[in-house]
Amino acid sequence: MLKWYDRAGRDLPWRLREGRPESYRVWLSEIMLQQTTVAAVAPYFTRFLERWPTVEALAAAPRDEVLGAWAGLGYYSRARNLHAAAQQMAAAGAPESEAGWRELPGVGPYTAAAIAAIAFDEATNVVDGNVERVMSRLYAVATPLPEAKAELRALAGALVTADRPGDWAQALMDLGATVCAPRSPKCEACPWIKDCAAYATGAPETYPRKRAKAERPRRYGAAFRIERDGALWLARRPDKGLLGGMAALPSTEWRAKKWSRAEVLRHAPVAGDWKKVGAIEHVFTHFALTLDVYSAVTAPPNDGWWGDASALPTVFKKAAKR
Ligand code: ADE
Repeated sequence: MLKWYDRAGRDLPWRLREGRPESYRVWLSEIMLQQTTVAAVAPYFTRFLERWPTVEALAAAPRDEVLGAWAGLGYYSRARNLHAAAQQMAAAGAPESEAGWRELPGVGPYTAAAIAAIAFDEATNVVDGNVERVMSRLYAVATPLPEAKAELRALAGALVTADRPGDWAQALMDLGATVCAPRSPKCEACPWIKDCAAYATGAPETYPRKRAKAERPRRYGAAFRIERDGALWLARRPDKGLLGGMAALPSTEWRAKKWSRAEVLRHAPVAGDWKKVGAIEHVFTHFALTLDVYSAVTAPPNDGWWGDASALPTVFKKAAKR
């Protein structure tokens, strides 16, 4: 596996060709990579590292600048936690052990294990969805996900050794991403082809087994677009809740029941000649949203500022564009 990694491992912006990367670099990349693809993360990672080259620099930045730079990457609680954790590290130093990293906001069991392995060569068990898939195939695990999680974790843990734990973890991630892919695994390129129980069944892509999942519920809302001389009226979302602390278009609540035009107008942030200009769709983890977009030429509400769409989360970028 390690020989395969030396040859076929990906060249990614947070990896170094030689030596161990510093923990700031590893932490920043791992937070960004939570629930987000390597392709989406790469440009953000490079921009953040250029703009804030050290944890002290990130801690000293105004929070709104960090949230603005995160716009488009999704799961915005990560940006709030990132800034809070940077301030803790700037004050008290960065942790060096898996247990120490677990104490920081935004760092869960997976991320703590990954940082400890990659930045400190601690022999931790780093298990994400990729690793679960690889284990489910290597051992042809019959239990479906999510029930199989503990079993898959134990199987992965039994393979960890003190030999290059950081490279081991990243080798598994790369194997899962490039070879042991979800739909069409490239088994001919796999260093484990002779050992793989799912390959031996002839249908490796049918692992991991999965329990049928419930459909995503749908919610409805309306966003209000007030434009003047090319600038948009923006409001900050409350700190708590979805997209907390992010810049946004003023919006109604997002609920299960559709909104009538009359209801929307009653919830408009100011009176005006509101016209429905269209609707956009956006898929969040726990629901899909249909957001009607209303536009008016009107005086702005009390709270907010004139800005542009660049620091908006994707759902509001779509609404602004519509
Ligand atoms: N996904 C999460 N962490 C990663 C890493 N260090 N390299 C590649 N993909 C990852």
